[in-house]
Parts: sequence; structure tokens; C-alpha cells
Amino acid sequence: MSVPEKIQARWSSRWVFILAATGSAVGLGNIWKFPYMAGKNGGGVFVLVYLACIALVGLPILMTEIMIGRKGRGSPVNAVRKLIRESGASRAWEFIGWSGMLAGALILSYYSVIAGWTMAYTVKTVTGQLAGLPPDQVSGQFEAFVSDPKQVLVWHTAFMLMTSGVLARGLEHGLEKAVKFLMPSLLLLMLGLLSYAITNADFSAGVNFLFAPDFEKAIEPGVLVSAIGHAFFTLSIAMGAMMIYGSYLPDQTPIFGAAAIVVVADTLVALCAGLIIFPIVFANGLEPAEGPGLIFQTLPTAFAQMPGGIFWGTLFFVLLLLAAWTSAISLLEPAVSWALERFHLGRSMTSWLLGGVVWLAGVLTVMSFSDWAFEFSFLGITKENGIFDMIDILTSIIMLPVGGILIALFAGWVLKREMIEELLGLPHDSLYRIWRVAVRYVAPVGVAIVMITSLFA
Ligand code: TRP
Repeated sequence: MSVPEKIQARWSSRWVFILAATGSAVGLGNIWKFPYMAGKNGGGVFVLVYLACIALVGLPILMTEIMIGRKGRGSPVNAVRKLIRESGASRAWEFIGWSGMLAGALILSYYSVIAGWTMAYTVKTVTGQLAGLPPDQVSGQFEAFVSDPKQVLVWHTAFMLMTSGVLARGLEHGLEKAVKFLMPSLLLLMLGLLSYAITNADFSAGVNFLFAPDFEKAIEPGVLVSAIGHAFFTLSIAMGAMMIYGSYLPDQTPIFGAAAIVVVADTLVALCAGLIIFPIVFANGLEPAEGPGLIFQTLPTAFAQMPGGIFWGTLFFVLLLLAAWTSAISLLEPAVSWALERFHLGRSMTSWLLGGVVWLAGVLTVMSFSDWAFEFSFLGITKENGIFDMIDILTSIIMLPVGGILIALFAGWVLKREMIEELLGLPHDSLYRIWRVAVRYVAPVGVAIVMITSLFA
């Protein structure tokens, strides 16, 4: 076993870590995916189940990942390897690190394409290209745009350059600077849009839609399945992103408090996004259960009609772009940190090279929306965008849940008690016991059930 280099870099404070981890968690998942999933899965009931999953499975695994990173002080592969050695466990656990790194790169390959759409829509909105258009033309423009590989490729390239650029500059000059500037901007943009939704849109209809549970839908297995899957995705857990961020934590940082803040912030942003989007949807007589097109088709329709639409629309897409950017950085950082330890090419070279690899993989997604689009069925659902959907299914339905189960089992059954207690910094012994039950039983069993039901549903 090669001896991994110890990671020397540290966040300059606990707050910077919290900003960075929140930046990773808050992304397309919160602002694009959460509202449309809530819309499709019965609003209030989905929100309740999602909140329960976040608390029971999400928070314990998030704490565990941060802890493994801080104790292992290395890229996910090497951090896990070090803990394996200290606890005399099987090398097979290394799988956690490898699969995580790969999942991150795969997710980023399509995440960057969607983020590229967001950039294009920022430009389309600010230049007034969509202003005053009727709904069918807004939708038509979206379809024409995503199926034009040349245009999408330009934006995908631009977004990957932005992501690799930050990674190339390293922790202090890249990541820290980026999140210190981006996260407060995000908060301001959000509050601005929320005040618009409260004062100018149909706020009470939005609130009802999100928080009035329709309990008839509670029995559908799909609600639980999608809620747990989304809990992983939205918190950026199960693939080492939080491990590598944890490995830059100064010693003696209480992990529980930091993780709790990240979870609360991420959840609030998702709920806020819903409270911005649905009032606008209802005020304009649009369809809430539109699905993935909600942001790019329904919302621009609303922006096209409303007074001040160019201003609010631009604000919205800039917000989405910033959120996607700070998440994208965390998707590649596990692989960058590993390659750095392994090949010693320097941070800049490593970031640009890996960015290039992911960019190339992203071309598959770009093409999935145009010339290479093909239909296929999986779990009884017909998908239209072949390779893109396959990557999404492979990562979200297979790799993240498996990674989550393994991380929980590793911490719950393999790591020694003293190691964990000292690290988590839990204020009460009872919290430690709750955490232990969560990672030993609740999370692995719960997630396994989700995976199995989704295979046979
Ligand atoms: N959490 C981000 C979002 O909601 C996406 C993301 C960033 C992610 N890093 C991750 C998802 C790691 C899974 C694993 O958009």
C-alpha cells in the first residue's frame, strides 16, 4: 500500500468550511430538481418525507463523511485507506473512495451541461430575447436550443472552464475566494426573489401547494424512493465531496454543529426555491407538475409576461448559475485531490486535465439532446435522452445509494468508538447513540429498501 501524502491545506476558519459545504450542497438539486419533484409527488407529503430523510439518513451520513475526511486527511481514496489501516479492516472498503470519485466526475459531466443551459438562459433573459413571447414560443425556443449541439457545447465549455479555473487556483485563492463571494450573493438574490414572490405573485397558492399534504399520495412507494434519492443528491453526500472538504477542516472543529448548519441551510434554500417558483407559476396560470422543464420552459414564460420580467428573470438565472458553480467545484475536487497525490503534476495542471476529461464526457450528454437522442426503458419508465439518462440513473440510482450504504456501514461497524466520539464532538452521549443507530441500521437498511423497491417497482 503506498503511503498517501498528508493533506496540508486547511480552511481559514470553520465558517469558510460551512460556506463551502453549503455551496456544495445548494445547487441545481435545490432550485431546479426539488421544486419539480415536489410538484410531481404530491407537494406537502413529499416535502414531509424529504425532511424526514434529510434528518434520519442525510445528517448522519454527512457527519460521517466529514469525519472520515478530517481523520483521514487525504483525498477520499487515501483518507479511507488510512482509516482502513488504523482499524485493520479489509481493503475492499477502498471501493468507497474509488466509486465516489468516479460518480462525482460522471455527475459533473451532465451537471455542467445543465449549468450551461442556465448560462445561456441568463444571456437570453438579460438581452430580452424571450420578453413578451407566448408560452408555446418560449417552449419552442427551449427545444430548439437544447437540440443544437453547437450552441450547447459552447456553454458547456464555458462552464467547465469556470469550474476548472477555480480548482486550478487551489483552496485559498480559488475555493475560499469563490464561496466567500458567491454564497452571500446567492443569499441576497434569493431574498430579492422571495420578496417578489411574496408581494407580486400568488404566494398563498404556492404555500398551499408545498405545505398542504395530500395524504392520499403518501402510500405511493415512489414518494419515498424519490425523497431518499434526492436527500443524497441535495446534500452532496455519498461520493466523497464532503470527505475532501472535511479533510481541509482545522483540528478540533465540532463536526456535528457544522453539519447541522449545512443541512438546515440546504433545506431552507430548497423550500425557498419552491416558495419563489410556485407563486410565480400560479400567478401566471402555468402548470406546476411540468417536470424538468419547469425552470427552462415554465418560468421563462412567466418572466416573459410579467412587469420587470427581464430584471427578475436575469436575477433568477444568475442565482441558479452561482449555485451550480459552487456545487460543480465540489464534484471534481475529490478526483483532483486524488490525482494530485498520485501523479504530482501540480494543482493547476491536474485541474485542467481532469476538467478536460469531464468536458469530453459531457459531450455525450450534449449529444443526447440532439442527434444521439434515443429512447430506452428502465424500471418501466421510458427515457428519451439515451446516454444522459443512463449516466443519471447509474449515478443517482446506483452509485450514490451504494456509496451511502458503505460509508454508513464503514463508520458504524468498522471504525473504533474512541475515534468517532472524539471527532464528531457531539454535545450529549445520547446524540452519539442516535448517530450510531442511524449509521448502523437506519441509513443502510432504509437505503437498501429504497434501492430494492426502485428496482422492482
Ligand atoms: N448537491 C448539489 C445539488 O443539489 C449537487 C452536488 C454537488 C452533488 N456535489 C455532489 C450531488 C456530490 C451528489 C454528490 O445540486
